[in-house]
Amino acid sequence: MAKLGVNIDHVATVRQARRTFEPDPVWAAMLAQLGGADGITVHLREDRRHIQDRDLPLLRQTVTVELNLEMACTDEMVQIALDLRPDQVTLVPERRQEITTEGGLDVARTQVALADAVQRVQGEGIMVSLFLDPDLDPIDRAAKIGAQAVELHTGAYADAPRDRRAAELDRLTRAGQRVRHHGMRLHAGHGLTYRNVGPVASLEEMSDLNIGHSIVARSIMVGMQQAVREMKDLITAAARGH
Ligand code: PXP
Repeated sequence: MAKLGVNIDHVATVRQARRTFEPDPVWAAMLAQLGGADGITVHLREDRRHIQDRDLPLLRQTVTVELNLEMACTDEMVQIALDLRPDQVTLVPERRQEITTEGGLDVARTQVALADAVQRVQGEGIMVSLFLDPDLDPIDRAAKIGAQAVELHTGAYADAPRDRRAAELDRLTRAGQRVRHHGMRLHAGHGLTYRNVGPVASLEEMSDLNIGHSIVARSIMVGMQQAVREMKDLITAAARGH
């Protein structure tokens, strides 16, 4: 059965909207673990738009399931990973202007830098996963580089109109077979929701699914009623003079 890595970046997005202390992604990580998360994923972006440096050591100290650090392939980030020692590093492409990670790594163009980062991080006993579009060429290159895992970008599948869905699932199936053929661990993520996760979770030997936005969005919806009731109770008590 595939493991669930819960990406808590967007809890931090809400916090950073006010540059305040709440909601704290460290607390959210605890609740996610109580809910059964097999892993906690955070993306420390170079522009620090959501997760902050302060969050990382706190998460390292408190997360008892797998901690997966998503990051760009830069010297600064590799050093942060070596200091933090997460259980896993996922290398992703990063562009300042993007709303979210828009595509997989361009392995052909960045092969030397990726190989160097993989060697340095895996050399310290931390598994490295490369975030790739579900195409065969980047997967073959990832295997040559020696990455232990590949995370397939499921965005095209998630965004596909109904008549393209089956074709995108076939693409993921073939890519997954290639990842396993090379003996690498198979991960997937991006754009997965309560509606579309099933077929991806069913792919053969799927090891880890990383899901963020949809879970954080739903947690707001399932928590809103209680949150409002608690505030209403305080106001009612104040009106009664308590
Ligand atoms: N996997 C990777 C590599 C990502 O960059 C992201 C987005 O940060 C996710 C998974 C989670 O995507 P989503 O928030 O759409 O579930």
